[in-house]
Amino acid sequence: MEIIVLETYHEISQVAAEIVVRSMQQTEKIVLGLATGSTPVGLYQELVARYKKNEVDFSNAVTFNLDEYVGLEPEHPQSYNSFMEQHLFGEINVPIKQQYIPPSNISNLKEIDRFCLWYEEEIQRHGGIDLQILGIGVDGHIGFNESSSSLQSRTRLTTLARSTIEANAKFFDRQIDVVPKMSITMGVGTIMEAKRCILLANGENKAKAVANAIEGPITASVPASALQMHPNTTILLDASAAKNLKHLEYYKWVYQNKRELETQM
Ligand code: PGA
Repeated sequence: MEIIVLETYHEISQVAAEIVVRSMQQTEKIVLGLATGSTPVGLYQELVARYKKNEVDFSNAVTFNLDEYVGLEPEHPQSYNSFMEQHLFGEINVPIKQQYIPPSNISNLKEIDRFCLWYEEEIQRHGGIDLQILGIGVDGHIGFNESSSSLQSRTRLTTLARSTIEANAKFFDRQIDVVPKMSITMGVGTIMEAKRCILLANGENKAKAVANAIEGPITASVPASALQMHPNTTILLDASAAKNLKHLEYYKWVYQNKRELETQM
C-alpha cells in the first residue's frame, strides 16, 4: 500500500484528482468506480473544475458506483443517485448510458438479486474497474460492506451497521429513524478486483478505522483491511485521520523520498 499523509482535506482531494486525471490520460477508455458520502466531495469539485477548464474529458469514461440505499425514491435528495447528479454527473460529460449506479427503489428480493448479478456482469463486460475511489466508514467499512462482510463478497443486499446509520444521519437532518437501513453494495471481492484503488479519509473520527485498516490484522471485522492484500492501493489521509498510525513517520518519509525521486526525473 502507498500511504500518503498530507495536512489538509483540500490537499488529499487535489492529489486524488491528479491520480484520476493522470489515469484517464493514460487510457482511451477508463472504467471508474465511484464513491459517495462527504469524503469524495472535494475530489469531485476538483474534477469538475478541471473539466470546466478543458483539462479532462469524461466522454469515454464508464462509471460504476459502489452502493446505494434501498428504499428511497431515486429523486430523493439523499439518494446516492441524487448525490452523483449534484456533485459530479450534472457537471461533467459522462454519457448517461455509461453511468452505472444501483437503483434505490427496488425492494423485491428477487429483483435485487437479479440486479446484483447483472451489475457484476456489466463490470466484467466493460473489462473490470480500472480505478476505484473509496471512503471508509467509522467501523472500517468500504462501500456498505460492514463488519463481518466476507472479504470475497460480491454485489449484494446488506444491512447498515448502527454506527453507519448514526454517521449518515447528518445527511437526513440528524433524524436517525429516516436513514435507510439497507443498501445494495459492491462486495469486498468486487472492490478487490479493481486494478487500482484510492481510499481517502479525513477527520479524527476516521483515525481508529484507518489505523485498524492499515496496521491491524486482515479481518472481515474491518473490511477495509482487505486492501492490505490489494497490489495497487493508495491511501490518502489528512493529518487527523492519520493520527493513530504507529508508523506515521515512516509513511511520510517514503512519500518524501518518492517526491524527491519524481522531481529528479
Ligand atoms: P463519509 O462516509 O465520506 O460520509 O464519511 C464514508 C463511508 O461511509 O464510506
